[in-house]
Amino acid sequence: MGKLDNDIIESVPRQSTNSTKWDKYHDDILPMWVADMDFKSPTPIMDALHHRVNHGVFGYTDASQALQQAIIQNALTRYQWSISGNEISYLPGLVCALHLCVRTLTENGDGVVVPGPVYQNINKPVVDSGRQLHTVPMVLIDNRWVPDMDAFEQACAQANSKLILLCNPHNPGGTVFTRQELLAMHTLAEKYNLFVVSDEIHCDLLLDEGLQHIPFASLNDDAAARTITLMAPSKTYNIAGLGLAYAIIKGNTLRTKFNKAKSGLLPAPNLLAMAATQAAYSQCQTWHDALIKYLRKNRELIHTRLADTQCKMAKLEATYLAWIDVSHLNLEDTEAYFLAQKVAISPGKQFGNSQFIRLNFGCSHQLLEQALVRLLPAL
Ligand SMILES: Cc1ncc(COP(=O)(O)O)c(C=O)c1O
Repeated sequence: MGKLDNDIIESVPRQSTNSTKWDKYHDDILPMWVADMDFKSPTPIMDALHHRVNHGVFGYTDASQALQQAIIQNALTRYQWSISGNEISYLPGLVCALHLCVRTLTENGDGVVVPGPVYQNINKPVVDSGRQLHTVPMVLIDNRWVPDMDAFEQACAQANSKLILLCNPHNPGGTVFTRQELLAMHTLAEKYNLFVVSDEIHCDLLLDEGLQHIPFASLNDDAAARTITLMAPSKTYNIAGLGLAYAIIKGNTLRTKFNKAKSGLLPAPNLLAMAATQAAYSQCQTWHDALIKYLRKNRELIHTRLADTQCKMAKLEATYLAWIDVSHLNLEDTEAYFLAQKVAISPGKQFGNSQFIRLNFGCSHQLLEQALVRLLPAL
């Protein structure tokens, strides 16, 4: 496939690399499902990895001051959020932290409020641990997916509700919640005295100028005290296979509780992931800018091609995951239907709405074009 765009965003073949996305299906299927991209990571990340590998010793390794500084600086520069080193808790992934949070902050039978449809691994920790899921329907307002706030309040007001699980930016749907929207959610968290866990893994994938990611915990002192923020460089810099995420916890009680529960159960991130993360946050601005432009073009391509169909797609403000309404087809099994067209999508059922599909456009323009050519006759 070779170099793309301004030679910065480069897509390479991934077949036979044990890629979850590429090796699940037969070679003639175009994989547009699980959320990673087909792009090589930025050169500074690869240099940092080579440098670390060349050292040749891979013993127990702690997070460096430089890594901590890179995370602190990233939060300050991108979200104007001031955090300190002791508020960061390193993790080998984000999903395990979602499970840990649910089990640590709630008890069996407690209610957890989740705006959905949502990434399946946000619901799963709730269901798997015997907690009760209070799903708040996402509705379209001004062509953006936002929670129905009356339903949100009803869910928070349930006697057993203890926790709100947010996904911001939202997956799927791509909403970047505004300060006003977040403040409305915070008012309810405070009124009903609920913890908040905010999964912000997609926060550096904002596709339009003028959008701003606002960490829920940065809203005000009360939000800071009741919130665990989960972030990772994995989606933006395409390093999910390395395994590093982190929690930012300002509240002392909450932080002690979380770190105690984590201790002995979750390992530290591996040393290569730490080297990659430090490089990602301190040396990859040019690559990041090029990535956003590249993804924006892909998003526009989808909008243009879908314009002549009955499919609907709301405004996608963030992520490389298009959330497409195919309800006019009235399908029982969207996955099988589109597999017959030789394209693997994520079925909306997985997130909570069987009449939608999620299409991953973190790939070359050419591959996306090819997938759309296959999909359009079926749409
Ligand atoms: C909202 C969200 N959270 C978490 C994850 C996965 O996190 P991790 O790979 O660090 O466990 C994903 C992956 O798609 C995601 O979309």
